[in-house]
Amino acid sequence: MKPFEIADGVYSVGVTDWNIRDFHGYSTPSGTSYNAFLIIDDKIALIDTVKHQFANQFLDNISKIIDPGKIDYIISNHTEMDHSGSLPEVMHRVGSNTPLYCSKMGHKNLPLHFRQNWNYHPVKTGEELSLGKKNLVFLETKMIHWPDSMFSYLKEDGILFSSDGFGQHYAGPETFTDETSEDIFAHAKKYFANILLLFAPRIKKLISQVGDLGLTINTICPDHGLFWRKNPEKIIEAYLKWCDQVPEKKAVIVYDTMWKSTEAMAEKIAEGIADEGIYAKPMHLRNCHRSDIITEIMDAKAIVVGSPTMNNNLFPTVSDFLTYMKGLKPQDKIGAAFGSYGWSGEAVKQINNELTAMNIEPVDPGLRIQYVPEQNGLDTCHAYGKKIGQMINDSTGC
Ligand code: FEO
Repeated sequence: MKPFEIADGVYSVGVTDWNIRDFHGYSTPSGTSYNAFLIIDDKIALIDTVKHQFANQFLDNISKIIDPGKIDYIISNHTEMDHSGSLPEVMHRVGSNTPLYCSKMGHKNLPLHFRQNWNYHPVKTGEELSLGKKNLVFLETKMIHWPDSMFSYLKEDGILFSSDGFGQHYAGPETFTDETSEDIFAHAKKYFANILLLFAPRIKKLISQVGDLGLTINTICPDHGLFWRKNPEKIIEAYLKWCDQVPEKKAVIVYDTMWKSTEAMAEKIAEGIADEGIYAKPMHLRNCHRSDIITEIMDAKAIVVGSPTMNNNLFPTVSDFLTYMKGLKPQDKIGAAFGSYGWSGEAVKQINNELTAMNIEPVDPGLRIQYVPEQNGLDTCHAYGKKIGQMINDSTGC
């Protein structure tokens, strides 16, 4: 990514990671970017850095605009290493005594990552840093999504540097969301579902607090993906909708299968749900990435989970998925379980236990079929799907 002037004296100086396909377990088929920003005024500020492996490219980008040694202040909006990983190289080049602004929790967390006694300046919400004609305001955004997270707002230009908030794992030649033909809201939705979903109540509160502060937001510059320049309120509205997790008439049937019996059950259950007028999507865990499944689940009313019993346990991919989903805490769902088994058949009960632990009340003890389902069994699956479909209709309104 070449440096780009976003507003007068405000530059995007981050890098593009075209080749990343797995971001700590989140599939990134379109790559991503690590965005960082340089503000040149009477004083010069750098907001965020990039992943460690891109440090040289990052410093080259800055050097195309100014000598990095002239930077007066460094601001770390977030300690996670995709944004802080180049700090050692940057501090070395800029000067190790350069003031490093971060939240109070950033002051705790940065030394635990880099073991350096840098010149930390912890800030609180509302504190300002004057660069001359332009002024930055800091907003703590604790647990959105790390304890140290914060936003920085450039008052005179109305630019919100939003760290991970409003980001997308998308790499492309464009700078602004209005320049792409990609469905950028789909990328933003996947990002929200996999990174931010469990913090939805906090995000809603934060958006309300930002509204109360009366900030004029012309542009939102997240640390991943493209910048929101035209109608930035659209992504804020989308966030509010995603925070509410208002369920649609939709069911996701997540399953794995050993000899296609649980798969046959999944497809018949999906057919039964669809026959009640509900959008039903079967998703095989070895063909669909868990991060795509969670994105589908975010606005679904029902999660129907299927697993064969393997050595008295859940099939391993089902365990993996349930662990992942438990951490993200989807709200207001109907849960159901099914599976084929050979002789012991514990998996269905284990799924229901996991759903219960997520505050998703299972509709019943679940549906089990021994070995290969025959026509009667498939009819039972279809009826089970219809029952789930009716429950979705009852709970979401016809
Ligand atoms: Fe993009 Fe939480 O780091």
